[in-house]
Amino acid sequence: MDTTALLSTAPTAPPAAGTALIEAHDLTRIWGKGDAAQIGVSGVDLRIDRGELVAVIGPSGSGKSTLGALIAGIDRPTSGSLVVDGTRIDRMKVDQLAGWRGQHVGIVFQDFHLLPTLTAAENVELAIELSGSGAGRRLRRSAARAALDRVGLGGYARKLPAQMSGGEQQRVGIARAMVTQPSLVVADEPTGALDQANGHAVFEILTGLAQTGSTVVFITHDLALADAADRTVSMIDGGVASVTVRGGR
Ligand SMILES: Nc1ncnc2c1ncn2[C@@H]1O[C@H](COP(=O)(O)OP(=O)(O)OP(=O)(O)O)[C@@H](O)[C@H]1O
Ligand SMILES: [Mg+2]
Repeated sequence: MDTTALLSTAPTAPPAAGTALIEAHDLTRIWGKGDAAQIGVSGVDLRIDRGELVAVIGPSGSGKSTLGALIAGIDRPTSGSLVVDGTRIDRMKVDQLAGWRGQHVGIVFQDFHLLPTLTAAENVELAIELSGSGAGRRLRRSAARAALDRVGLGGYARKLPAQMSGGEQQRVGIARAMVTQPSLVVADEPTGALDQANGHAVFEILTGLAQTGSTVVFITHDLALADAADRTVSMIDGGVASVTVRGGR
């Protein structure tokens, strides 16, 4: 990562439209064997273009989180190929994958996952440290401030998670995910723990990220949010049942 890029609030070079960021072929994640096998996803073929806002929907247990974890490099497939941002990540070893993830992916969790003893700014700065960018303290600090500004929390830098509402904590979670300028942001039910107004505010921020060139994949049970995405991937029983692509957001 170019550390100077940390200070800009948008990706330095907006990606060309229509080029694939994610290409999955026959992607499968199974736990256990034989009769005891638990299928997370099976035989998934999927393409996601750069700069898209992508919703993943489907019933509970249909494989949404499994797919999200695979494309975010949190988990590895049992078989199949997975290219993200030009790299075959299905073949990576665990430690190699962790390093790759720190530089290329921002992750947003349903229940925020902020460290409770760190302030909003420190939570965001930590993501830069863990990304291995080598950015110094001052640069980390100003990049964290810029990211908090971008999610509308410029005045919240010194607050602890317990001093913030759920919606505010999730916006810190998004600032943390985007501060390293990742090519991909994966959010697993980012609005699931929020009321409608806060959920909408979080969704607007994710939409804005995609409009400035990031690729955002979000898992949701909210069909109204899914309808506003560029691409909606509908999952059933570990497979992709259908993909809807909308133009001209
Ligand atoms: N670590 C694991 N070990 C065994 N089976 C697992 C594991 N993780 C997920 N599964 C199984 O994989 C299937 C898909 O789970 P997943 O969490 O991806 O569903 P989901 O679509 O995200 O559901 P929800 O909407 O409830 O979050 C389920 O049958 C689940 O039990
Ligand atoms: Mg899930």
